[in-house]
Amino acid sequence: MRLIHHVDELRAALADAREAAFVPTMGNLHEGHIGLVDIARRHGGPVVVSIFVNPLQFGAGEDFERYPRTLAADCARLEAAGADIVFAPDVDQMYPEPQTFTVLPPLADQLCGAHRPGHFQGVATVVLKLFNMVRPRYAVFGKKDYQQFFLLDGMVRQFNLPIVMLAGETTRATDGLALSSRNGYLAPDERAEAPRLYRLLRAAAGRLAAGERDFTGIESETATALTARGWRVDYVSIRARATLLAPTGDSRELVVLAAAHLGATRLLDNIEVDTPAP
Ligand code: PAJ
Repeated sequence: MRLIHHVDELRAALADAREAAFVPTMGNLHEGHIGLVDIARRHGGPVVVSIFVNPLQFGAGEDFERYPRTLAADCARLEAAGADIVFAPDVDQMYPEPQTFTVLPPLADQLCGAHRPGHFQGVATVVLKLFNMVRPRYAVFGKKDYQQFFLLDGMVRQFNLPIVMLAGETTRATDGLALSSRNGYLAPDERAEAPRLYRLLRAAAGRLAAGERDFTGIESETATALTARGWRVDYVSIRARATLLAPTGDSRELVVLAAAHLGATRLLDNIEVDTPAP
């Protein structure tokens, strides 16, 4: 496995390679990231993992400064997982002045975007730049960041990028908590409380699977149950998987998405659910 910091070196290393499979990350890797590397490895070409804590996707007052940076440990994990190249560029290289940005559809200002203005523009811009640097055939993202995958998949189609987008299922701790680099911020009592988010999403999904269609009722009861336990809820939202917009009368394939703060930590989760025909 090679650790590469400069794009010229990356291009040279990939010059004769075809069909690279690419996993973009911000590092502090856990089993969820490694699951995506496993998916990338199935495609036979070189597996490239980027590690870059992208300042453009953090808002003022968010955790950019304290985001965990663990490059040596990450490289050891990736070597064991069979990655071929780790690309860890520095900020100057990624963002020469003056900057150019991608423009996203209105969905980017909903859900997480409503609470983190500019976040998805920062995500899409860095991912587009990384795609142009790595020029992969496959790119692997996690469903844990459901809206992120949806918007990036749309970007790939809109910009006609020759990339196959692959989505990995969410890897969870045994108590159901979705693995996240931010879980390390949780105090012991918060960590004990954190699995409630997924438990409540499962309960909401169960009601939908049983045929309930009172979406706003389910959303607000789920949010209230979190608030009652001390969470600060950004949103609980039931959406159609095809559009990530509010379901219409005949939407059957749904996803329940939520973001909520426990103390100083913002947690994110979602669950897909198929609902019965009337
Ligand atoms: P990061 O949070 O490091 O996540 C990197 C990838 O791992 C994303 O595709 C994310 O959805 C996936 N992932 C995180 N936790 C997961 C879990 N528990 N199970 C499965 N997949 C999981 O997402 C980002 O970085 C950044 O926004 C990035 C796309 C790299 C752009 O900067």
